[in-house]
Amino acid sequence: MPKHHAETTRKNPAGSIAEEALVARITKAREALGGRVVILCHHYQPDVIVQFADHVGDSLNLSRLAASRKEARYIVFCGVYFMAETADILSSPEQEVYMPDPDAGCPMADMARLEQVERCWGELTRLVGETIVPITYVNSSAEIKQFCGRRNGVVCTSSNAAKVMDWAFEQAPRLLFLPDQNLGRNTALAKGIPKEEIALWDRGKARLQGDPNRAKVILWDGFCPVHVRFTPEQVMRFRSRYPGIRIIVHPECTEEVVRLADGSGSTEYLIREVREAESGSVFAVGTELRLVKRLASTFPDRTVYPLDEEHSICVDMSRSTPGRLLAVLEGLLEGRAPGKIQVPAETAEWSRVALERMLAIS
Ligand code: 13P
Ligand code: SF4
Repeated sequence: MPKHHAETTRKNPAGSIAEEALVARITKAREALGGRVVILCHHYQPDVIVQFADHVGDSLNLSRLAASRKEARYIVFCGVYFMAETADILSSPEQEVYMPDPDAGCPMADMARLEQVERCWGELTRLVGETIVPITYVNSSAEIKQFCGRRNGVVCTSSNAAKVMDWAFEQAPRLLFLPDQNLGRNTALAKGIPKEEIALWDRGKARLQGDPNRAKVILWDGFCPVHVRFTPEQVMRFRSRYPGIRIIVHPECTEEVVRLADGSGSTEYLIREVREAESGSVFAVGTELRLVKRLASTFPDRTVYPLDEEHSICVDMSRSTPGRLLAVLEGLLEGRAPGKIQVPAETAEWSRVALERMLAIS
């Protein structure tokens, strides 16, 4: 097992005898595949899957890894669909990308469909001409990424959204930020862009809310159903109960929650904050529950509370199960693996342009 797992994995995440048997078979298949496979895992994946990862990361790091691990013939991506698509786009043509369950989507990514975005773009360019750069959060389909690539636009992640926005403002006076309104708004406000210069595209009514000429940032109205469940009341409750607590959240949370928190950033940022804190520190963390629980067990000398224990599971991330991972690995050995992810060539071409722009910026 790679050595970084000592820090990120519990001793025995297998929950039952049946699961232990699956874990043993996965270990065997993994060994038989050797260097032909690399397993990439997002931080929200279950422990039972994370223990098999060659790399665990946030979206930015996983994109970089997919672009650089050219020696492995197979990339098995344990995460959600847009992440595996990104890996396929950035890996070399000889490499193949698989997911334990290709039905693991991201509801936020599904909130921006190509025809809706084209309609919005048509209306915006009618209103303000060719003065807009499109930026899409990596949590979007390959089609939306290609849309941005074709129009001199770019991709961003939660780690580099601020830098990517700076780049966009060097190209044009305003930007369209897809699909997460919260990441877009939080990043723009942190830059000191006033609220009056932030407009919102209502995808239901296909109408802009706000003054198009004044707007520097036009937000698509998508959101993460998991992260919008965190509330200002939860933040305030933790503050009054644990004086001195540090509250850190993911920037997909609402503006109100981010404003009340002590810090916000990508999953990698949240991990770093806890790792670098002094022993005895107390945190409440507003992000997906499995990562928060892993932080608590990895750093037992700090106290790490989930900001919300009840509503913070991403069900799509739960779709990677040991049985499905095993089916991919044994399938690769037998030459008939399920779960192959293949982005059509012309979509891949322009989305690669948008992704490579991002990698060059950050
Ligand atoms: P990170 O890039 O911060 O890991 O976030 C991905 C994500 O889907 C958060 O909901
Ligand atoms: Fe998508 Fe939210 Fe799940 Fe992240 S946590 S994958 S943004 S639904």
